Amino acid sequence: MNFEFTEEQKMIRQAARDYAQRELITDIIERDEKAEFPTQHIKNLAELGFLGMMTDVKYDGGGMDTVSYVLALEELSKIDASSAIVVSVCNSLVNWGLEEYGTEEQKEKYLKPLARGEKIGAFLLSEPEAGSDATSQRTTAEDKGDHYLLNGTKNWITNGASASTYVVIAQTDPEKRHRGINAFVVDKDTPGISLGPHEEKMGMRSSDTHSVMFTDVKVPKENRLGDDGFGFKYAMKTLDGGRIGVAAQALGIASGALELAIKYSKERKAFGTEIANHQAIAFKLSDMAVKVENARNLCLKCAWLKDTNQPYGIASAMAKQYAADIAMEVTTEAVQIHGGYGYVREYHVERLMRDAKLTQIYEGTSEIQKIVISRALLAD
Ligand code: CAA
Repeated sequence: MNFEFTEEQKMIRQAARDYAQRELITDIIERDEKAEFPTQHIKNLAELGFLGMMTDVKYDGGGMDTVSYVLALEELSKIDASSAIVVSVCNSLVNWGLEEYGTEEQKEKYLKPLARGEKIGAFLLSEPEAGSDATSQRTTAEDKGDHYLLNGTKNWITNGASASTYVVIAQTDPEKRHRGINAFVVDKDTPGISLGPHEEKMGMRSSDTHSVMFTDVKVPKENRLGDDGFGFKYAMKTLDGGRIGVAAQALGIASGALELAIKYSKERKAFGTEIANHQAIAFKLSDMAVKVENARNLCLKCAWLKDTNQPYGIASAMAKQYAADIAMEVTTEAVQIHGGYGYVREYHVERLMRDAKLTQIYEGTSEIQKIVISRALLAD
């Protein structure tokens, strides 16, 4: 078994680390407070090739592997998970499905500008009454011959306002339940699409989250992704990969909090010595490090499975559930180690703790991942 990264993988990790430590850090506290989207940072990350990093070079992407993607997301998320989620949604939830299931025309029109980072994408699955229970889609896509007519509301849409390209999941034939669901690629400026207000979130406040309303939105037939009725499987397969991105984000949040806690423990003195010299702190750091290392191994194993064309759906559910849960534990301990300083903005760990919470919720809660894992364990 080879645990060594290639030179290219190391280079990509270093590029992400440099950008995060030099640039994202400069305004993250302010952006978090103002809930401001990182427009300029996303342009810079696009120029560096991160937005389309996993898309094939044939479609103007970077042609990089999933291991590189995990390494980059960990580094970005150590500092700013809100910027990292844009990279993750574009690569995993939007570009991947277009490349895998799109027609050549769809790839030319939609995938290439996304892969070049000229456009941002969003994935519209969740609804007011269909979050975990994703088969209960209420948004309808009525077949009108040469086009579909979309009506309904999508909730909690990451990049809702900043995206130009939406991948929308909707119900075409309710009698067929999940087999009557379709996926569509839709231009955000199509008449009939409107946005709800910006959601004031607890964490990842610098990423933009909106509801999106569809009122008699005409979508050309050629914008359907895959065969008629393939939409639910399209969404599930997309989420299998998306969960690697969220797992890597959670890993980054946790490892960022661990780094801050180690640094603080070596500087802060109490009872006549640096607090790292007290076992109460040293043992916490040790427990945190073991969790981070386990999460990293799960993420990289899953990335390796995907890169070597092996099934990875269960592995991504495991990585996501574990990394998100330990991110919450590790960031909480990092705040505890910082004491009162941990509770104020300036020391960053309180933000990491708020950001960690979202990784247990979006792209399937930790409980949903346990459903996926246990069903696989118990299957005949
Ligand atoms: N790959 C391929 N097919 C799959 C699949 C997968 N990973 N998972 C399920 N399917 C197929 C099944 O085989 C089945 O197909 P058949 O009928 O042909 O046999 C069909 O899909 C239905 O499967 P289930 O009966 O298992 O469906 P279910 O209703 O029990 O739901 C679930 C399964 C895992 C709970 C699923 O609903 C789920 O993942 N829910 C969570 C949804 C989610 O993650 N939402 C997050 C929204 S995205 C987001 O957060 C966006 C953002 O902006 C960041």
